[in-house]
Amino acid sequence: MLYDKVYFVEELCHTKGGCLVMEQYKSIALIDSGVGGLTVVKELIHQLPHENIVYFGDTAHMPYGPRPYEQVRGFVYEILDFLKTQEIKLVIIACNTAASAGLHYYQEKIDLPLIGVIEPGVRAAIRQTRNNKIGVIGTTGTIESGAYRDVFNRLAPGIQLYSQPCPLFVLIVENGLVGSPEAVRVAEEYLRPLKIAGIDTLILGCTHYPLMSDVIEKVMGPGVKLISSAEETAREAKRILGEKGLLRGGIREASNRRFFVSGPAKPFADLAQNLIGGTIRVYQVILPW
Ligand code: DGL
Repeated sequence: MLYDKVYFVEELCHTKGGCLVMEQYKSIALIDSGVGGLTVVKELIHQLPHENIVYFGDTAHMPYGPRPYEQVRGFVYEILDFLKTQEIKLVIIACNTAASAGLHYYQEKIDLPLIGVIEPGVRAAIRQTRNNKIGVIGTTGTIESGAYRDVFNRLAPGIQLYSQPCPLFVLIVENGLVGSPEAVRVAEEYLRPLKIAGIDTLILGCTHYPLMSDVIEKVMGPGVKLISSAEETAREAKRILGEKGLLRGGIREASNRRFFVSGPAKPFADLAQNLIGGTIRVYQVILPW
């Protein structure tokens, strides 16, 4: 495993100085507050194995969930500026909290296709439910924003939606405590109202949550299907790139994956290694914010 520290963003960009990167060779960029967006990376690798990937985990500011929306948007703007130096062709806001703070704000800042993770998850849940009772769990920011409710109202107003914030889940994942008895206790507490409501489908409305799906599944029982937006989001990315003729499919050279974090590299690299495998190259970026 390799760790690198890049203290000056310019230094990294310099290695690319002046060379023209073909559109298809450009990378898919993903943004999250930490390791959560790696669940989307994993699915991208599965569906689009030839694509180059640039990932930014804003671990210095994690968790995003309890922060005001303006502040989260401010962090994402800075990350978008950084990503503009990285030869990218599509941006995935792989963080429900950041997406809930308003995808349209980010789209104004960057002239590239940009997608989030909320609508893909909702579409998958609508296809899945049989009793039209769907639960969504997420960070406090995501649930309070009403972003999921808005998308359901637009796509399937007849669905009964039950929302539940689960703020401690992100900290459990980032601190490697998924297998602990505390994780089960916390999950039982958070998920009780959703069990009582009789939902048959549960959206994991935070990209960190698929990393604790074993616990959530155990607590909810076999009658409840969990929906991770990762798979649907990767499918959406594939569709958009395909329509624009930007897929890198068929190119034989190995794909390039770069992971940037704003906090220490090692804890992120360890979690990423577990989830994705192979050599994980993590750069710590000290950005001016
Ligand atoms: N993984 C993110 C999400 O999907 C952010 C969690 C956090 O930083 O609170 O909401």
